[in-house]
Amino acid sequence: MKDINVGLIGYKFMGKAHSNAFAMLPMFFDTQDRIVRKVICGRDQNMVSKAAVKFGFSESMTSWEELVKRDDIHVIDITAPSNFHKEPAIEAVENKKHVFCEKPLALNYKDAFMMYNAAKKAEVKNQIGFNYRFVPAIVLARKMIEQNKLGRIYHFRGAFLQDWIMDPDFPKVWRLDKSVAGSGALGDLGAHVIDLARYLVADINSVCAMAETFIKKRPAVQEMTGLSASKKDINAKMEKVDVDDAAIFMIKFTNGALGTIETTRFAGGHKNDMFFEINGEKGSIRFYFERMNELLYYNAEDEEGYMGFRLIQASEGIHPYMQSWWPAGHVIGYENTFVHEFYEFFQSISLGHNAKPDFYDGMKCCQVLDAVELSIKENCWVSVDSIK
Ligand SMILES: NC(=O)c1ccc[n+]([C@@H]2O[C@H](COP(=O)([O-])OP(=O)(O)OC[C@H]3O[C@@H](n4cnc5c(N)ncnc54)[C@H](O)[C@@H]3O)[C@@H](O)[C@H]2O)c1
Repeated sequence: MKDINVGLIGYKFMGKAHSNAFAMLPMFFDTQDRIVRKVICGRDQNMVSKAAVKFGFSESMTSWEELVKRDDIHVIDITAPSNFHKEPAIEAVENKKHVFCEKPLALNYKDAFMMYNAAKKAEVKNQIGFNYRFVPAIVLARKMIEQNKLGRIYHFRGAFLQDWIMDPDFPKVWRLDKSVAGSGALGDLGAHVIDLARYLVADINSVCAMAETFIKKRPAVQEMTGLSASKKDINAKMEKVDVDDAAIFMIKFTNGALGTIETTRFAGGHKNDMFFEINGEKGSIRFYFERMNELLYYNAEDEEGYMGFRLIQASEGIHPYMQSWWPAGHVIGYENTFVHEFYEFFQSISLGHNAKPDFYDGMKCCQVLDAVELSIKENCWVSVDSIK
């Protein structure tokens, strides 16, 4: 057993989710090597040293440039906003570090393509944080599709609905700034659904989209973290919001299936409501993230008179990843998805295979996101391959 030393960049929402996963992983899964929370990196020394203590890292530092060059660091984990993925990822792979990067991979397809190429050239392991791929019920859905339980797939209907910025006084946090986030609900939430559509159905051929920014000006942000921020300062100046509040698009898949994806931060009452339904010739499946241990399955070959969606509790030992957790029916949560994704990532480093989803998947997702944005701008169908 050898040590895999991690250097983590960023220490708020995702920094905490990843650190928690590093701590939980060896308690529940047998990993080949030891995961060591070595260095945590942020811009403010006082804050980052507090985060190091809280998240169990032995050191903290403020220079990511030095971090990615350190000989005693094997993995760089990037949990900064999207405008700060490309630079550290490319520097890290060029210094032969394995890299885990949060989604979306980059601000646009061009940058994502550079990151993918740099990682490929360096021959290091790379993975992107599409953690919903590691929900046991979703892995089960993929298995059922591979076993041809749905037959030919006709439809994918996906949505990611939130409501945390509906108050017009909610400030312009980084997620509402195009130069930092790339896009709004589209890149933040839509990236996950696009990835699931690619994972479960097929690659996306073309898209036709519309989007809206309902609140066009917001007070400047004073203090923020993750999805929360301090409310309006009476003296705060108003700033233009340059990302979408909601985006909706139609999809043609390469295998002939049709789809729709709806992403919004203005769906009152929906907190982190990611759902999808897939309809095939032999059956359908339906999934709601807020009930993430369950998968609904309709089998068109069931006996007449008894047909209907059945509820599968995907929390038994035979279900993906569940053997490592609790007895059947003792359900798991959001944070466990990160444990699963990092289990796959660290095993890929130890055993030498490639982890999925990787920078290739991150790049393909960015290509779809760019196609959606072009479709919104030009008001027409856009072929994903036309994005270069
Ligand atoms: N997989 C998921 O479910 C999921 C959920 C939320 C966020 N994300 C992604 O994770 C990333 C971070 O989001 P978050 O919610 O954790 O944001 P956050 O605002 O909570 O944390 C961002 C962290 O990055 C640091 N940071 C910002 N700019 C930096 C820079 N230039 N140098 C060093 N550190 C810097 C901040 O200080 C902070 O610690 C984004 O790409 C986001 O899309 C993924």
